[in-house]
Amino acid sequence: MRAAPFQAQLLAPGAPTGDAGAAAFETVLNVADLPPGAMRRVTRGDLDLLLAHTPSGIVAVEDRCPHMSAPLSVGALDGCVVSCPLHEGRFDLCSGDPVRMPTTGGLDPDGVYHPTWSPAGLPPKTDPPGLKAEARRLTRVRRFRYYPVRIQDGRIEIALPR
Ligand code: FES
Repeated sequence: MRAAPFQAQLLAPGAPTGDAGAAAFETVLNVADLPPGAMRRVTRGDLDLLLAHTPSGIVAVEDRCPHMSAPLSVGALDGCVVSCPLHEGRFDLCSGDPVRMPTTGGLDPDGVYHPTWSPAGLPPKTDPPGLKAEARRLTRVRRFRYYPVRIQDGRIEIALPR
C-alpha cells in the first residue's frame, strides 16, 4: 500500500506545518544556513535528519537512503532529486518516489523487482553468489519518512517524535 502523498513544506512564515501529532517542534537550523539547493545533516539523539532546500520548499527526512541506509547528506541534490553515493540510487524528496533504482537492483516500494545494472561505460555487474544475491533481490527500497517543518523567526523547526 502506498503511503499518503507528501506535502512539501513551504519556506514561508506561517506556512502549513503538517500534522505534528504528539511530536514537539524543535529548532534545528537557521534558514540562512540552508540556502536553495543545499542539504544539511542534523542529529538529535539517535535520529539523523536530512534537511534539504528543494524548489518545493524545505523538507526533512531521515538521513538514511531508502535502499540500504547510507547517509544521503553526503550525496548530491539536484532540484528535488537526491543522489545516493553508495549504489547510485536517486530519490525524489518532493514525491517520495525512487527516480532511479540502485545498481544492486531489488524491489521498488511497490514490490516490483528490478535487476542489477551498471553505470554507463562500466562492464555488466554480476550478482554475488548465494545468499548475497538473494538478499539483494529481496531488498526493498522504501519511501521517505517525512517530519513536519515550520519556519519561525528565521529558524527552521522540525516536529520531532517524543
Ligand atoms: S544505500 Fe543508497 S542506493 Fe544503496
